[in-house]
Amino acid sequence: MKLGCSEAIAQGNLKRSLLNHYTELASEGTQLILSNLERAAELVHSFKQVAVDQTQSELRFFDVRHYLEEVMLSLSPQLRQTSHAWFITGDESIMIQSYPGLLAQILTNLVTNSLLHGYGPGEAGKLSLHLGLEAGQLLLLYRDDGQGIPLVDQPRIFEPFFTTARDRGGTGLGLSILYNLVVQNLKGEITLQSQPGEGVQFKILLPLEQG
Ligand SMILES: Nc1ncnc2c1ncn2[C@@H]1O[C@H](COP(=O)(O)OP(=O)(O)OP(=O)(O)O)[C@@H](O)[C@H]1O
Ligand SMILES: [Mg+2]
Repeated sequence: MKLGCSEAIAQGNLKRSLLNHYTELASEGTQLILSNLERAAELVHSFKQVAVDQTQSELRFFDVRHYLEEVMLSLSPQLRQTSHAWFITGDESIMIQSYPGLLAQILTNLVTNSLLHGYGPGEAGKLSLHLGLEAGQLLLLYRDDGQGIPLVDQPRIFEPFFTTARDRGGTGLGLSILYNLVVQNLKGEITLQSQPGEGVQFKILLPLEQG
């Protein structure tokens, strides 16, 4: 049976090769712990970010299209590294009384997902957001024309920690946070309407006024 390092030390026969092997293992282990800790720290940071946005986001009366165009512009640096095109269509001037920071977070999570999951490297996609009114509510239709979500995954995408991109740094929290923002914070609804191979379409309905 191979001796462990501490047994070898206890028995006074520690060999250079065993010590080298042990040092390698220890350094790999430390690397692993460190990178997991870094990911945990990023997670906590993003949780805090959402919490901060929620509390700092004041209730305001604002022009949705104008505001969301600014959000898209603020995402431009990420988009510029790709060949994707984006556009916002629909009603020019819908005024709502709501929490702009939360809407920004919602759109950011949708766009980030399109970039991470929708397309292969170098592919040029179309990301679009359509604004309108439906049954006295604000309608947001977000679409991309990427690879879409397989039918088997569709029922799970809003679950916390469901991700198909764990190997690329996905945590599976983006859509569950988004769901909570829409349903709990803003008292709205969100549904995924997506045919595999045809990109995604999320339909979001939000009240025009927050109580
Ligand atoms: N636009 C999209 N195109 C294709 N698949 C998507 C898209 N948006 C979400 N998905 C699928 O839904 C899953 C859950 O998304 P979610 O945002 O919750 O997690 P994530 O993006 O994997 O990780 P995180 O957002 O925490 O970094 C993704 O892993 C992916 O499988
Ligand atoms: Mg995501």
